[in-house]
Parts: sequence; C-alpha cells; structure tokens
Amino acid sequence: MEILRMRSAFSFFLLYFFLFCDISLSFSPVDHYLVNCGAFLDSTVDNRRFVSDSHDSTHAHLSSPQSFSLCAGTLLPALPPIYHTARVFKAQSKYVFDVKDPGTHMVRLHFHRFSTPQLNLVDSQFHVLVNGLVALTNFSGGNSLGPRVTEYLLCVHSEKLEITFVPAGKSKFAFVNAIEVISAPKDLIPETAQSLNGDKLESFEGLNQRAFEVVHRVTVGGAKVTPFNDSLWRTWVPDDEYLKSNQGSTRVYFSGSIKYQEGGASCEVGPDNVYNSARLIESKSASIPNAILSWEFPVTEDYKYLVRLHFCDIASVSLGLLFFNVHVNGHLVFKDLDPSAVTNYMLASPFYLDFVVDADPSSVVNVAVAPSNKSMAHTVDAILNGVEIMKMNNLMGSFDGKVPVESVLKCWPTRKSGRILLPMIALVCLLLSLSVFMRRRVDKADSVPWSKLPMEDPETTPKKGKQQLPSKV
Ligand SMILES: *[C@@H]1O[C@H](CO)[C@@H](O)[C@H](O)[C@H]1NC(C)=O
Ligand SMILES: *[C@@H]1O[C@H](CO)[C@@H](O)[C@H](O)[C@H]1NC(C)=O
Ligand SMILES: *[C@@H]1O[C@H](CO)[C@@H](O)[C@H](O)[C@H]1NC(C)=O
Repeated sequence: MEILRMRSAFSFFLLYFFLFCDISLSFSPVDHYLVNCGAFLDSTVDNRRFVSDSHDSTHAHLSSPQSFSLCAGTLLPALPPIYHTARVFKAQSKYVFDVKDPGTHMVRLHFHRFSTPQLNLVDSQFHVLVNGLVALTNFSGGNSLGPRVTEYLLCVHSEKLEITFVPAGKSKFAFVNAIEVISAPKDLIPETAQSLNGDKLESFEGLNQRAFEVVHRVTVGGAKVTPFNDSLWRTWVPDDEYLKSNQGSTRVYFSGSIKYQEGGASCEVGPDNVYNSARLIESKSASIPNAILSWEFPVTEDYKYLVRLHFCDIASVSLGLLFFNVHVNGHLVFKDLDPSAVTNYMLASPFYLDFVVDADPSSVVNVAVAPSNKSMAHTVDAILNGVEIMKMNNLMGSFDGKVPVESVLKCWPTRKSGRILLPMIALVCLLLSLSVFMRRRVDKADSVPWSKLPMEDPETTPKKGKQQLPSKV
C-alpha cells in the first residue's frame, strides 16, 4: 500500500535523464522588478541591479500624493547600498507593477530602520497590502539590529500587481528600502498537497492559487545560503537554532553533483547548496538507533502553514538502503519513505514533500525524521536537507491579524502637513548621495571593501538626480 501511495504521488518520475544546475544559465523570470526605493541612483547587489524609483519607469510605477527620499547620511559599510536609502510615505501610496506572466509571483520587501536628524525610521508605523492581501499591520520596519526582509508568494491573474503602504498610528508615516517582484517558476508551487486534518491526511487542492508568506527557510546541516548562491535569490539560514533533538545525529556534506531530475525538485525549488548538506541518523552497529531528529519552528497560531521538506540522499553508499519515517506536528505523515523509489533509483537526486498543517496549540510547527520498521543496520536511517514553512493567509485575507483589507484602508484619514520640509530633506539627501558617490569614486583606487559594490551608473547620475525633486505624484 505504501508503495502504491508513493507510486501515485510520484508517478511523474518517468524520465531517466538528469539535469545539472548552473545558476548563471538557469531561470530567467518574465516579470523581474528590483526597485531601489528613495534612491537617486541604481544600486547593484550580488550582480542584481536595483533600479531607482526616483524617475518614472515604464513598468514599475509609484503613485504617492506625498512621499520623499531619505538617505542614511552616514555610511553603513557592512550593508548593501539598497539599505542606505528609503522612500518615506506620508500618505497612502502604492507601487504598481505590470504583470506579463500570470501565475505565482515572489514579492520581497526590504526594510532597514535607520535614523537621520530629520527623521528616525524607528518611529514609523504602517500597514502594507500586497495585491489586496494584508501583509503587515502596525509594522515599524522590524527591529533595529539589521535589515528585515519579508517575502510573499502569490498567484496573480490580474495585469497589475500593487503594493500599498498605509501610514498608521501616531507616526503617520511608512517607509520601504527596496522591493522585488519576480515571476516564479511554474513548478515552485504545485496544484495539490497533502493536508493534515487531525490524524488523517487529505488532499489539498488549488495550492498554487493560494498566497503564502515565507516564515522559515532553513538549510539543514549546512552553512547559510545567500541570494548570490540561490537560483531564486532566496536566503536559507542554518537549522541549528531550530534543532530540538539530535541524539545520535551527524551532519553530512556532499561534494558531488546534485542530480536534478525532470519531475523531481528542480534547481529553482532548491539550489545545490541546500541539497548538498543534511543531518542524518546512521546505524553504526548491528542495531537500529532508537533516535529521532526533530526541529521546532515558531509560528503564529490560527493560520495554516505549508510545510515543505527537502530530501536528497547524499549519504547512502548504495540504493535501496534508506527507509525512514517522517512526522509533522507529532503525526506520522510518511511511513517507510524510500528515497530510492521516489527518485527512480538514483542517489543524490532531490525531491520534496509538501504538507498543509495548522500551527499546534503551542504555536510551533514540529518536523521530525526517524528510523522506520524497514530501516537497516549499518546504513543511514533518516535524513533531512531543508525545510520551508510558509504561512497561508486567513479568511480575512490577512497574514497579520484579523483586520480585513477594507478596515486597513479605512484607517487612513486625509491629512496634509510637512509640505515645506520635504523639498529640504530631498535636497539634503541629494547632496549626501552625491557626496557618497564622489567619495566612492575617489576610494575606488584603494581596496576598501566598499568599492567592490559598484552602485552607480555615472553616465545617468545627473539626469536622475534632477528629476527627483521633491516628491512623486
Ligand atoms: C493597530 O493597532 C491599534 C492599536 O493597538 C489597533 O487598534 C488596530 O486595530 C491595529 N490595526 C490593525 C490593522 O491591526
Ligand atoms: C557561494 O557558494 C560557494 C560554494 O558553496 C561558497 O564558497 C561561497 O562563499 C558562496 N558565496 C556567497 C556569496 O554566499
Ligand atoms: C513497527 O513495528 C511494530 C511492531 O511490529 C509496530 O507495533 C509499530 O506500529 C510499527 N511502526 C510503524 C510506524 O509502523
């Protein structure tokens, strides 16, 4: 029966060839907007060009009755240039992006709360809507320790994707440092998944029509994976802080090539750097360890989560030796999982399993792998390579509370002030950004780590600077 279930779940593994993944050659999204908010110049981060929103672009249009550029003023050498500027909104404002490729899109919002003599971004308070969904409420840009990036995956059928900022609370201003809107590969979110209802697994249909906020993205047993090394410019953090029980577990690194197969996980689903490390339970004697490897991910109650578990057998010496059980929130969700059968008998070939679950009452999602009744002595008896936990919006269309979109928008009263201050701030910011630019050109001769991040396009500098003043309409 197990075999049957597996066969039906993975019957699309029909092709026997495999593909290698070269990040530089792979995925090129149709919709690909990188916006450097509040900046006068474009910035390049990891070979990705974030375009200034100070001049009107044909594809990403900012409409704001009252917004201005703010720049950190002091240099923040450890941070990429996109975090040195922000666009501040004193009234409800939105960015509108043309959607040429309907389907799932990734949206990333970058926030870094810096402080200037004119304004301290810590004092902000605002709501953010992404295409009619409430993404953030009463938000003030994360904590001051460093940048905060929030990421959403949503299915877009309209011709436009809108990101709206609504100032709230006493501060009456909102801000953002950078925005990414990217069409996702078609295989990133499949149509169906299994859903855990009590102790039973049911089919969850229409998964790819839903929206998600990525709350945890973890590479197991390996080092942090940065956007530079990820096919979709994601960040995967190491699992150490989530690891709950690791009796008898070991880490493994694999230096061979990961064999992506048609129908399995593609290199857009997970990059080499995630699949080439793992933690495992291994039998080193004639007995099977009575062990369990488990992780606990803090989540917010009252939401459903898509739990994606990434596997790649990079540790077995030969096929057909690894069998293990997979548990989510204490329920057995896959009995005697046999990676060899799933991958059509190929080692180092990645695949993933998706489960839709509710947060358990203690506000965590618990994931575990353990030896099964089919596990064998002297072999690997459980493995996990990566985990993603994605929050699904609630019935109010929100990722952040029970206030529906209409009420979030209503909370914006009409109010005008600070008109005189704005051109001044914009001018100061322009001067500062030019001086940073000049300084950097001078610095280029020295090998300051700074100058390795080319930020500006000298030819277009004056034009962009001039068009900026002072705010957008
Ligand atoms: C924001 O916080 C205020 C005060 O705590 C609360 O009354 C309001 O409902 C919150 N707004 C949203 C959209 O959650
Ligand atoms: C990218 O991955 C390679 C190989 O794993 C590693 O040596 C390098 O430091 C990574 N680069 C970044 C920017 O993360
Ligand atoms: C493993 O076998 C034992 C004894 O036959 C049985 O009680 C137990 O339910 C089995 N475990 C699983 C997960 O099937």
